[in-house]
Amino acid sequence: MVNPDEFIEDAIAEIREEVGDAQAVIALSGGVDSSTAAALAYEAVGDQLTPVYVDTGLMRKGETDEIRETFSYMDSLRIVDAKERFLDELAGVTDPEEKRHVIGEQFIREFETVAEDIDADYLVQGTIYPDRIESEGTIKSHHNVGGLPEVVDFEGIVEPMRDLYKDEVREVARELDLEEIISERMPFPGPGLAVRVLGEVTEEKLEVAREANHVVEEELEEYEPWQALAAVLGKATGVKGDNRVHGWVVAVRSVESRDGMTARAQEIDWETLQRIQSRITGAHENVSRVVYDVTHKPPATIEYE
Ligand code: XMP
Repeated sequence: MVNPDEFIEDAIAEIREEVGDAQAVIALSGGVDSSTAAALAYEAVGDQLTPVYVDTGLMRKGETDEIRETFSYMDSLRIVDAKERFLDELAGVTDPEEKRHVIGEQFIREFETVAEDIDADYLVQGTIYPDRIESEGTIKSHHNVGGLPEVVDFEGIVEPMRDLYKDEVREVARELDLEEIISERMPFPGPGLAVRVLGEVTEEKLEVAREANHVVEEELEEYEPWQALAAVLGKATGVKGDNRVHGWVVAVRSVESRDGMTARAQEIDWETLQRIQSRITGAHENVSRVVYDVTHKPPATIEYE
């Protein structure tokens, strides 16, 4: 990227030229990529763009409200409450790739409904360079909105950030005056908390994961990790009050990285780790243990599934 200013000017011109007078649609996830792409496209074509935010119930704490507020200047914003439908579809599904598949399919169904309703010709996507590289390989089937072009018959797909790295997207986001909560936000996987609870997705596990991820993001902010997260691993014995409990084990992970393709586990001081432990075990009666993950990528991945 030459510089953010020039990039923005070129990207807006490109989007205007491609979309013309037609209707466009973008899936807004709350992450920095789709938010930046939406802001660019809105700048380019205004209300001809309908940003669609699907509340899957797998989002971070407070995320839906933040989206509603941050993008309230876009009159065409649509927020779809699909929490129950996602949980229903995920019931009984334990295999990680199958989970991604189910979520991807349901997402497409929700999105398709809106795209057809507004008769959208163009799909804008916040795809960035590492997404293209990873999806060419076989590392993991990335849900974002990868399957959409095959399902909805769009006239064209616009990917204004296809050659950018994550840190360049953040520069663009800052230049566009996107709120810090978005521009500085850690990457979050498309399938959301579903890949941060091992095995079947249940409301209880999601609740534990949502609160634990909130604690971890808050407590580790000063370490400026590329990504800090918590995952619900399974159950183990513990003691709470006078009782032995069979409670959830929560793993905490914090990594440095440039593009997510490789990563180093961060060294965190003991006091901070203990504060995280105490907040997470205190937040939910059924959490008995918190562990810290010291594994780099490779051999581990950043996410747990
Ligand atoms: P892994 O776990 O493969 O993650 O080391 C690398 C980066 O990709 C994110 N990630 C995903 N993003 N859909 C996404 O949109 C996915 O299915 C997915 N899986 C992992 C992960 O959060 C990290 O930033």
